[in-house]
This record gives sequence, C-alpha cells and structure tokens, in this order.
Amino acid sequence: MELQIDDVMLVPMYTIKVPTLLEFNRANRFHIERNFPTKQKDFYTLEAHQRHVLESLLNFERGDAYNFAVVGKGRKMIARASLYRVLRENYHNAHISILVDYRHQHVGYGDKILKRLLKHAFEDLKLHKVSAEVMPTNFATVALLKKNGFVMEGVLRKSINVFGQWEDHAIYGLLNPNEPTVLD
Ligand SMILES: CC(C)(COP(=O)(O)OP(=O)(O)OC[C@H]1O[C@@H](n2cnc3c(N)ncnc32)[C@H](O)[C@@H]1OP(=O)(O)O)[C@@H](O)C(=O)NCCC(=O)NCCS
Repeated sequence: MELQIDDVMLVPMYTIKVPTLLEFNRANRFHIERNFPTKQKDFYTLEAHQRHVLESLLNFERGDAYNFAVVGKGRKMIARASLYRVLRENYHNAHISILVDYRHQHVGYGDKILKRLLKHAFEDLKLHKVSAEVMPTNFATVALLKKNGFVMEGVLRKSINVFGQWEDHAIYGLLNPNEPTVLD
C-alpha cells in the first residue's frame, strides 16, 4: 500500500532498507530524544532497526499499527509517520505521529503528510476518530494539530517518559467528519 502526495510518497516502513531508516533516525536523534518516548539503549543500532522493521510488517498484517516512511526522489527518506495503537471493536480509533527530517521542516511536508494520513484513516480504514498525544511544550505539533481541526481533550499528567523525565501529555482528537463506521 502506497499513499501519494504530490512529489512524495508514504510507503510501508517494512519496504525501506534498514540502513536508510537507521540513518534517518540517527540524523534526527535530537528531535526523537526530545519529543518521543525514551528509547532502549540499543535503539540506534542496525540490529534494533532490523527488529523494528520486522515489527512494522507484523503490525501492518495484524492491523495494529501502520508505520510509513515518507520518501522523495530516489526513495530518499524525508519523514516518518504512523497510525498506531489502532483499536477496533467499540473504539475505531488510532493515534497519529509524524516526524519530518530536520532538513525538510517548515516547507509544508508535515501538513501534507498529516492531511494524507487522515484521509487514509477516515476514508480507507474507516476509523471513527484519530487521536494525537503531544507534550504541551511541543508548539510546532500543537499548532499543526489545531490547524487541522484537532481539539484538545485533556492532559495526561506525567504520563510519558521523554529524555529520562516524566512529562505531561496533552491528548488531541479529531472525529471522522463522514462518520461511516458500522461497529462489527
Ligand atoms: C511538527 C512537525 C511534524 C511539523 O512539520 P513541518 O513539515 O515542519 O510543518 P509544516 O511546514 O507543514 O507546517 C505546518 C504547520 O505546522 C505548524 N508549525 C510548524 N513548525 C512550527 C513552529 N516551529 N512553530 C509553530 N508552529 C509550527 C504551523 O501551524 C504550520 O502551519 P503554518 O505554516 O500555516 O503556520 C515537525 O516540526 C517535526 O517533525 N517535529 C519534530 C517531531 C515531533 O515533535 N513530532 C510530534 C511528536 S508527538
């Protein structure tokens, strides 16, 4: 499954060469360490990334999470994005997360990727709701979410460990404007 947006494409993470993903994560270590959960000590190794890519394949097959690499010309990786913690039954909800390579930020990719993933979540996966958890101090992400109609629903106190510290996490939500979900 590939999702096209203008000059870039979202491709399943498991189709990316492991060293390409490792290089992306190493290059963006600063943002990963400050905005995402604290990683295992071996996170920035080839072995950990081999496991990560394999897990992403299994998650895709199970429908538990959809991790994408965003690639441009020559399959150069410029971002990663995911719909994860996908819950069906009485929820039909997923969480969304995006990281744009620091050399490609502020030129509109984050917004395009978010819009394309939301379209996929609501129209293809027919989810009822998409949520996003973000530290209130992550102003860029908060602004991006609000710009796309997400509403802040509350703050989960000291609920995520980032860079070795317990941090508050604000939870934002967006409802499917078409509301097509039939519970199964
Ligand atoms: C948040 C992030 C994905 C935005 O990606 P981007 O490609 O730089 O964003 P865009 O250029 O598409 O900008 C879209 C909107 O995001 C917001 N935004 C982006 N950078 C911002 C900044 N530095 N300050 C405030 N708002 C910002 C704005 O609302 C902007 O819309 P505008 O240009 O109309 O004002 C990117 O900054 C990033 O990867 N950050 C680190 C990873 C991260 O924190 N991910 C979320 C973890 S929960």
